[in-house]
Amino acid sequence: MGFITSLTRMWLTRTVRPFTFENTYDQVLPFGECENLGLYVHIPFCKQLCNFCPYCKVKYSPALCDKYIDSLIQEIHLIGSRHTQRKTVTSLYFGGGTPALAANRIKEIVDALSAHFIITEGIGLELHPDNVNVEMLQILKDAGVTKISIGIQSFREKYQKILGRKKMDAGAIGRALAAVPFETVSMDFIFALPGQTYDDLRSDIDEAFSLGANHVAIYPFIDFTFTESPVTAMPKKEKRELLDAITRYCLDKGYSRNSIWTFSKEADVNYSSMTRENFLGFGCSATSLFKKQFKINTFDVAAYCERIRAGQPATSLTIHFTQRQRMIYWLFWTAYSTKVNAGAFEAFFGVPLKKMYGFELWIAKGLGFLEEQDGTYELTLKGAFYYHYYEHFYTLSYIDKMWGLMRKEAFPRHMEL
Ligand SMILES: C[S@@+](CC[C@H](N)C(=O)[O-])C[C@H]1O[C@@H](n2cnc3c(N)ncnc32)[C@H](O)[C@@H]1O
Ligand code: SF4
Repeated sequence: MGFITSLTRMWLTRTVRPFTFENTYDQVLPFGECENLGLYVHIPFCKQLCNFCPYCKVKYSPALCDKYIDSLIQEIHLIGSRHTQRKTVTSLYFGGGTPALAANRIKEIVDALSAHFIITEGIGLELHPDNVNVEMLQILKDAGVTKISIGIQSFREKYQKILGRKKMDAGAIGRALAAVPFETVSMDFIFALPGQTYDDLRSDIDEAFSLGANHVAIYPFIDFTFTESPVTAMPKKEKRELLDAITRYCLDKGYSRNSIWTFSKEADVNYSSMTRENFLGFGCSATSLFKKQFKINTFDVAAYCERIRAGQPATSLTIHFTQRQRMIYWLFWTAYSTKVNAGAFEAFFGVPLKKMYGFELWIAKGLGFLEEQDGTYELTLKGAFYYHYYEHFYTLSYIDKMWGLMRKEAFPRHMEL
């Protein structure tokens, strides 16, 4: 598995040099030069820690959460004030953990960000099903949140049990959503759980849309090496049949596929923390992607607060990309939306996509992974499955390794992927 990803990386980046991260970091982050910049804020608290979950999270306590938010606001001013002009950005996304647990301080965080940034495409935030009630939704709406996503995982009790989750009151979720509407209501599901069938997934999607969601994300279950989940991954053939069947079901219903694993009721509804050309992240474990570098903050909440208290960025590791590495990063995450536009690539890098990757595109088209129309390459059903399949390798070879290390050490000296 590692061998395949390494070989692909060497071929596509045209170098044997691995992705190399160092612990030296910039005081002034180069987001001023980035167009289409998205903001990300990480809130790592959860009432219960799920054993399958790889994200940076800690058990919620009101005191720790308050201390953390104080540091977060300090970090926003520390990073933001190094640039004199307010920067126009696309969207702001609160991820976790469970950011809804800090609901009463979201407005303060938005205000701190608004001192340095002009947010033009709305604010998204993640909730656990237990957080969905009228009072909570109203607090979030009043704070400026326009898009929410709820981590349902499955409406079926059987799979909730497998994932160690409690039974939820779907009716109450539906009533709260009807009382406090949002521009986007997304629901997260996990698929490829043991024994999960097409009918299970189809009924989950139907239920989500009937309860008031207008967007669903169906994530394939990933068995990270450092999590303690007893759940085993589904075999490739079964998984492909399931992904293809559920994709066909959604397309037949007239839903739009906005990324490999997400579907929306109407074409203009979107919700994603991933598909941005550049992003700037705040909080522990938050990553930032600029024109020529990628950086990741420490995963350790205490070390994060300590760094910020000392007036220093919480950066743990940084990689300075070669041009080809950055191109691959761009292509990989743009392809996640199932479409790659050659004009957008050229606008970003100043060179035609065909000149840099014409041969690879030709092969991908020949293998039936892509179709081209007016300079836009769109993944076919087959292409989407193989993207998903490769992404699984990528996650296990790169993200699993990076997060595994970051969970052990607050500030590692060096990392190669
Ligand atoms: C930060 S959580 C969402 C909000 C909230 N904490 C919750 O769990 O309800 C993000 C989502 O990642 C997905 N996820 C977590 N662990 C996963 C895994 N091992 N494989 C695939 N998806 C996973 C779940 O669908 C989850 O809803
Ligand atoms: S799945 Fe959500 S609630 Fe569970 S530990 Fe992860 S972030 Fe927390």
